[in-house]
Amino acid sequence: MDERLKRIRESERKSHIEIYTDEKLYATDSWLKKPIKTVRDIIPLFEDYRSLRVLDLGSGVGRNSIYVAECFGDRDCRVDCVDLLEIAIQKLLENAKEHNVEASIMGIQQSIEEYTIGADYYDFIMAISALEHIDTEESFRKKLLEIRNGLREKGVVCLVVNSEVREKNADTGEVVDAQFEVNLPTAKMQEYLKEVFKGWDVLKTAMSAQEYDIPREGFVSRLSTNVVTFVARKE
Ligand SMILES: C[S@@+](CC[C@H](N)C(=O)[O-])C[C@H]1O[C@@H](n2cnc3c(N)ncnc32)[C@H](O)[C@@H]1O
Repeated sequence: MDERLKRIRESERKSHIEIYTDEKLYATDSWLKKPIKTVRDIIPLFEDYRSLRVLDLGSGVGRNSIYVAECFGDRDCRVDCVDLLEIAIQKLLENAKEHNVEASIMGIQQSIEEYTIGADYYDFIMAISALEHIDTEESFRKKLLEIRNGLREKGVVCLVVNSEVREKNADTGEVVDAQFEVNLPTAKMQEYLKEVFKGWDVLKTAMSAQEYDIPREGFVSRLSTNVVTFVARKE
């Protein structure tokens, strides 16, 4: 692992441990407050399904996967949740129990890069603010292809990915290295998605420019990002 990757992983690890320790799922003012709207909007597409196989890459403590499992609580539903961090998987399983969906939630402590997505296996694959943390652009592209092949007919992919991220010290204005392993220009990110999921029914494609402060080691960073959202269904 090169030095830059090690540094980013360590800083990510620390900030996620902090939030996963301090904030309670669905009962906080942080981003763990509720599942994202894009995921909530996808649920009706599976209304007629008796059985559902879901994959959540970089699941965290289950903000989106527990919600999906709850929506399909009366059916055969399995959500495979992959996350690098031990505390994420531990809290995910605790949250699953608390929300009575432990039979549906599988916690897998592994990196997204290492987790092999079986061909033709899932009905729904989501990766929310996670794929930009894959180790290299090449693995990122490979994972997109695996997602494409891992979805069954009528399967849905839902991706939310940061792009063109810039960070600067909020006090001094000094530009610092953006703490994102894969930091693609927005146009290139959109091009990748268009190319890999060519021929699919694109249900949503959006880009939102956002700016917020986040704590980094020893300083607060002002982060600007173009968040790309992409939802498509396999024809
Ligand atoms: C910003 S959080 C988003 C969590 C969740 N998707 C959500 O929307 O609440 C990113 C998560 O991805 C995990 N992560 C980061 N890099 C990863 C990697 N290479 N493989 C697996 N998980 C990773 C982190 O541990 C963290 O839990």
